[in-house]
Amino acid sequence: TAEDLQDICSFLVDTAKEGGRIILAAKPSAFEATAKKNSADIVTETDQAVEAFVRGRLTERYPDFAFIGEESYQCGATIPQRPTFIVDPIDGTSNFVHGFPAVCISIGLVMGGQPTVGVVYNPFRGELWTAVKGCGAYTSFGDGEPQRLPLSKSPLQGLKPACIGIEWGSDREGPNFELNLKVFTALARTTATGGRFVNSLRCTGSAAITICRVASGQQDAFWECGSWAWDVAGAWCILTEAGGIMVDGHPGGWNPPVDNRRYLAVRPATGGQREFVEEFWSVIGSAR
Ligand code: IPD
Repeated sequence: TAEDLQDICSFLVDTAKEGGRIILAAKPSAFEATAKKNSADIVTETDQAVEAFVRGRLTERYPDFAFIGEESYQCGATIPQRPTFIVDPIDGTSNFVHGFPAVCISIGLVMGGQPTVGVVYNPFRGELWTAVKGCGAYTSFGDGEPQRLPLSKSPLQGLKPACIGIEWGSDREGPNFELNLKVFTALARTTATGGRFVNSLRCTGSAAITICRVASGQQDAFWECGSWAWDVAGAWCILTEAGGIMVDGHPGGWNPPVDNRRYLAVRPATGGQREFVEEFWSVIGSAR
């Protein structure tokens, strides 16, 4: 029921705040971070400690739910149909080791493949976003009152005036990376016909926080080829409950599965969402 989901959400908020205390107490350094695959894909002891803490709390309280976490993920695992917590203990690990305060714990509950509860918490700023499917999305700072999302709502006017959050991803080769490069360039450049270049492209190093900014109406869209399920699962419910949409980075996919690694999130708007997506897809199509 909605009440059960609200209880789960409250428990996830407490868990995220406890995990946040572990993050704030840590003294990470870029030097001590270990590369998983390359220098852009790093992990610290704190990522592992926070995941172990969150996993322990969630599996004790909800033993029948499955758990997928970034640090314990086994390559090739798929998202089960039964209720599944999908957790990124530190989204923005590179920011974390550099002391750049765009860092969060992201916890999503996915049921039957649908993002159903989302909690994203940045302990450095005390900034929290939450949502329960069917009950709206909220944000708060510190002990402040939660505000319902979106914070503002206006029509989308296509790509040109847009502020778009992009992420490079942690793979620096392969088809996802190559497509990212082409799409970024196509968005940034004026075309020969005097056409499009977007107002601004922003990269802050946390996909989850950026999607929450899109949900809040502070950015128009988010695009990444290469996000993992744990980067998006928590923020996805927050986005859609705020009135935003998540679509596939493969043109034509209006209902992306949770483990597709190409995502386009579009902010809540009083019109123009569909046209915005179609225009973005035309950029992806021409960039291929
Ligand atoms: C990364 C961040 C980054 C995105 C990468 C993610 P991590 O997560 O969200 O913004 O570009 O694809 O892997 O490694 O900091 O948890």
